Amino acid sequence: MSDIALVTGANKGLGHEIARQLAERGMRVYLGARDETRGREAVAEIGTGDVRFVRLDVIDRESVEAAVREIDAESGRLDVLVNNAGVAGEIGTEVLDITADQLRATYEVNVLGVVTMISACVPLLRRSANGRIVNMSSRLGSLTALSEPDSRQRKRGALAYSSSKAALNVLTLVYAEALRADGIQVNAATPGRVPTDLNAATPWRGDRTLADGAVAPVHLATLPPATMTGTFRGPGIDESPGW
Ligand SMILES: NC(=O)c1ccc[n+]([C@@H]2O[C@H](COP(=O)([O-])OP(=O)(O)OC[C@H]3O[C@@H](n4cnc5c(N)ncnc54)[C@H](OP(=O)(O)O)[C@@H]3O)[C@@H](O)[C@H]2O)c1
Repeated sequence: MSDIALVTGANKGLGHEIARQLAERGMRVYLGARDETRGREAVAEIGTGDVRFVRLDVIDRESVEAAVREIDAESGRLDVLVNNAGVAGEIGTEVLDITADQLRATYEVNVLGVVTMISACVPLLRRSANGRIVNMSSRLGSLTALSEPDSRQRKRGALAYSSSKAALNVLTLVYAEALRADGIQVNAATPGRVPTDLNAATPWRGDRTLADGAVAPVHLATLPPATMTGTFRGPGIDESPGW
C-alpha cells in the first residue's frame, strides 16, 4: 500500500501545498482542517490522487483522537505526520506590550498542539516501516539567527512566535531521540518566507512561492528509512541545494 500521510492545517497555505505534493507523489493524504466546509473545498481544489478530508483542530484533543481513530479504521497505520498548523501570534504588538495570554494562545497551537498530535499519532506511526514526523518551524525560532546582532529575526521582536518555534525545535530534538528506537524520524523544516494569510499583516512576507516553501518539508516527509533525525532543514538554516 502507498504511504499514508496526515497534514494538519492543510485547508490553505503551505499545508495545502504540502498535501498536494505528497498526493502527487502517490501518498494517501489526510488533509486536516478544523472547518469541514473549507477542508472539503481544499480537497476538491487538489482534485487529484487519494486526498481525504479529516476534521482536526490541534488544540482540541477529542477532535485529534477522533481523527486518529478515523485514519486507523480506514488505513490502519500512518507513515507521515506533518505538523503544519500554526498561528502568527502577536503581530503588530510592541514586545513590551505582549501579554502572557498572547504567548499562551500562540503556544496552544504551535507547541502544545504538536504534542497532542504526536502523542495521538505515535501508535499509528509505530505500525509504519518508515515513520516520519515533520514539524513546521521557522528561522524566527533559530537561536543562531536570533543571536546575530543585526539579524532580521532579532530585530523583528516576535516574542510569542519566535519563542514558540524555538520550543518546537527543542520538541523536535527530544522526540527524535525518544522515537529513534522505533525508527521514526523526527525533523523540523522552515519554508523560508512565503506570503500567506499568516503573515498578510506584516511587511516581512518575502517572495517565495508555496511550491518553494514546500520543498524542505516535502523532502523530510519523503525521506528513506534511517536517513536523518533531529535535524532542522530549509533555506537560511542549512545549505542544501534546491530549498
Ligand atoms: N508563511 C511563511 O512565511 C512561514 C514561514 C515560516 C514558517 N511558517 C509555518 O508554516 C506553517 C503554515 O503556515 P502558513 O504560512 O501556510 O499559514 P496559513 O496560510 O495561515 O495556514 C495556517 C494553517 O494552520 C491552521 N490552523 C491554525 N490553528 C489551527 C488549529 N488550532 N487546528 C488546526 N489547524 C489550525 C489554519 O486553519 P484555519 O484556516 O482554520 O485558520 C491554516 O490551515 C505554520 O506552522 C507557520 O508557522 C510559515
